[in-house]
Amino acid sequence: MEKKIGVGIIGSGGIAQGVHIPGYQKLDNVEVIAVADVNPAVAEAAATKFNIPHYFTDYEEMLKLPEIQVVSVCTPNYLHRDATIAACQAGKHVLCEKPIALNAREGREMVQVARANGVKLTVGYNSRCSKEAIALKRFVDDGLLGEPYYARAQALRRRGIPGWGVFTQKDKQGGGPLIDIGVHILDLTLYLMGHPKPVSVSGISTTKFGTREGVLGLMGQWDPKTYTVEDFAVGLVKFENGAALVLESSFCANIERDVMDAQILGTKGGLSIYPPTIMREESGALTVTHLTSLQEIQSHGEQIRRFIEAVVNDTEPLVTGEQALMVAEIIDAIYESQETGREVLLK
Ligand SMILES: NC(=O)c1ccc[n+]([C@@H]2O[C@H](COP(=O)([O-])OP(=O)(O)OC[C@H]3O[C@@H](n4cnc5c(N)ncnc54)[C@H](O)[C@@H]3O)[C@@H](O)[C@H]2O)c1
Repeated sequence: MEKKIGVGIIGSGGIAQGVHIPGYQKLDNVEVIAVADVNPAVAEAAATKFNIPHYFTDYEEMLKLPEIQVVSVCTPNYLHRDATIAACQAGKHVLCEKPIALNAREGREMVQVARANGVKLTVGYNSRCSKEAIALKRFVDDGLLGEPYYARAQALRRRGIPGWGVFTQKDKQGGGPLIDIGVHILDLTLYLMGHPKPVSVSGISTTKFGTREGVLGLMGQWDPKTYTVEDFAVGLVKFENGAALVLESSFCANIERDVMDAQILGTKGGLSIYPPTIMREESGALTVTHLTSLQEIQSHGEQIRRFIEAVVNDTEPLVTGEQALMVAEIIDAIYESQETGREVLLK
């Protein structure tokens, strides 16, 4: 029997136990060898629950294990850079949770170190592996959209400021809804548009609710006194090919309902993602097609399966480090545009 691919997990909290460890353990050719978490109780609990042979409190120690070839980085955002770089330098392929890092500067370093060490780096934009995205990508690849020239992407919560973790702390999280939920829909939209090259960004990011006392919290209670991220942001991105994209993201806004969706307009057709719908002119009529009976799929597990496949076959992962970096560059530019009051030109 062929030797299994050894996996190590850095940060064994929510997302690690919820999807990464089970996702790897579902695969016949993979074995989760170890977890590392600064919190010894969390590390031990994860190892016991999932029957994992080793656990560590220092991930540098875990990275010394030669039988580990693939590492998932599941720490809070502010540790993505250091953990990923250490893993790449130890010769491991890395699946780093989203966003790539606190900002594009850190992300760029990670991409460079991965390339320099000849290892694969992917980032947890699992939305690309949702059943809706998989089906719509086939429509796009079959040319039914034509040339995409405009997209509107929305990740909007009405009253969804997280009341746990570090989501409301700029230094640990990098930003608010833009970097937490906006990145998912932005990545997916760029993917379905075929990753045109962004050339300029202008935007606003504001805090209208997070620092106020007495705002209704439907996702727990945060501390308004330590709230340092935006709760609403909008960006207009222009691309080299003339296309444009508007991204809207909120933790808190006076809107009718939460929205996670994007519309993409193309010269031959248009689409929206959730629910997956295609708008076209066919045989002299305007049609709206709802994609139905799509095969159920667990998007995180599917992303892990595809990443292992890329490692085995030595191919590029579905989400490349460079594509994840593009998301970070756009997010950074929205924040910069807010600070400077100007359009930001991207190199
Ligand atoms: N793709 C998705 O849909 C999705 C969903 C949730 C979270 N995430 C991402 O996953 C990451 C983790 O989120 P979470 O909800 O699991 O957080 P969490 O707080 O539940 O878990 C993070 C773990 O990292 C550990 N940790 C902190 N510092 C460490 C260090 N130096 N070395 C090792 N471990 C350390 C913590 O003790 C904790 O157990 C975040 O970047 C988040 O954006 C992605």
